[in-house]
Amino acid sequence: MSTHGKVTGIVSNLVTVTVDGPVAENELCYISVGGNQLLAEVIRVTGDKASVQVFESTRGLKNGDSVEFLGKMLEVTLGPGLLSGIYDGLQNNLTTMTGVFLKRGEYTDPLDRKVLWAFTPLAQPGDKVIAADWLGEVKEGWLPHKIMVPFSFKGEFTVKSVAPAGNYTVDETIAVLTDKDGEDIPVTMVQKWPVKVAVKCYKEKPRPTRIMETGVRVIDTFNPIAEGGTGFIPGPFGCGKTVLQHAIAKQGDADVIVMAACGERANEVVEIFTEFPELVDPHTGRKLMERTTIICNTSNMPVAAREASVYTAMTICEYYRAMGLKCLLLADSTSRWAQALREMSNRMEELPGQDAFPVDLSAIISNFYARAGMVLLNNGQTGAVTFIGQEGRPLLLRPRAEPRRPEALPGRQPDRLLLQIPRVSRDPGIPAGKDPEELG
Ligand SMILES: Nc1ncnc2c1ncn2[C@@H]1O[C@H](COP(=O)(O)OP(=O)(O)OP(=O)(O)O)[C@@H](O)[C@H]1O
Ligand SMILES: [Mg+2]
Repeated sequence: MSTHGKVTGIVSNLVTVTVDGPVAENELCYISVGGNQLLAEVIRVTGDKASVQVFESTRGLKNGDSVEFLGKMLEVTLGPGLLSGIYDGLQNNLTTMTGVFLKRGEYTDPLDRKVLWAFTPLAQPGDKVIAADWLGEVKEGWLPHKIMVPFSFKGEFTVKSVAPAGNYTVDETIAVLTDKDGEDIPVTMVQKWPVKVAVKCYKEKPRPTRIMETGVRVIDTFNPIAEGGTGFIPGPFGCGKTVLQHAIAKQGDADVIVMAACGERANEVVEIFTEFPELVDPHTGRKLMERTTIICNTSNMPVAAREASVYTAMTICEYYRAMGLKCLLLADSTSRWAQALREMSNRMEELPGQDAFPVDLSAIISNFYARAGMVLLNNGQTGAVTFIGQEGRPLLLRPRAEPRRPEALPGRQPDRLLLQIPRVSRDPGIPAGKDPEELG
């Protein structure tokens, strides 16, 4: 029987729930309000009280409303059809939603369950396989999309049968695996994975050795980034961070690009929607949109889902990395994600750290950055996730310390590359081209 609860306190989207059974941190729950089911995530448990962050507006919610816990964490659905998709932070497919604005409590399926994919088997009956080993492949646009043993499978399995080459939907069984107890487990093209857990189904994670061409000549010449490295673009508002990031998304040498618009303005995301289906990828000659997935959680969307959006984006990158592909994750902007964390931390009345950000902010950001990297897969091939974030200065960065000792700032240690855009003054009192901060 699942755990239920009743709402006992509401502070904006932080809701306190008294529960009648066990709940786990990061577990999901549905809060019923006026016929809608609002999705929420447990962020703290104290005795029989759970604090949950609601991914939607909590307008109209009142004490006594009922809550049902789902017994699982926030998960992404992984399978063919993610590329060229446009999702929100909870991986709802925005293109299949009805109406211009998102309706509260409406959740859509991220994958199209009716499309037929041309499947080619790669594994043979009798093969011994472990999680993330390739069973077959489908063509997703031009990209060979590998169908893998689900990441959640523990231990070694024997392939009992693999479907012959042909057209299948994502929900049809394409292989049957036998576990060590002799039990048969059917495998489809779809799998689920909790977003906040790093996918570790690889042999080794060596230091990155190759350079990733961003296609922006000044970066590649003077300050190159490694394939599987991490970097960030700090700079004040309106200095061109988003423009630079879009340029990297257009020219960058990557097989898959995931753009997480985390707290960005909606019109900037609309630019991607309108431009990318028209522009041609210089590396493959196909449309840019065919290799791009957009996770869109703009500044007018609920703040709690911002945090989910960067994790969703990272998990999708890790999924494609396990296929031996080069992925590039662009997050715009990590400072607005930090702002969302700050809002929740303040509502929970936690002891504030620097600038009222949560004290464990640098640990949260370091853990996230650590999920990027180049990996050696079980079959000897390599895959990489390169992460480039960007930050508006007033948040994570101390104004004065920023140009001189960026490594001393909270959350800065994980970065390997720093592309600082200085604020060039338009003030007539300051010499042209001078950074006002350099003048003191
Ligand atoms: N390389 C460039 N060449 C010409 N114009 C530019 C360039 N970079 C930025 N701009 C101009 O500056 C404007 C603001 O840039 P952008 O939106 O990238 O800033 P931002 O740093 O992302 O700001 P915010 O922190 O507010 O998100 C752009 O709309 C564009 O007009
Ligand atoms: Mg911007």
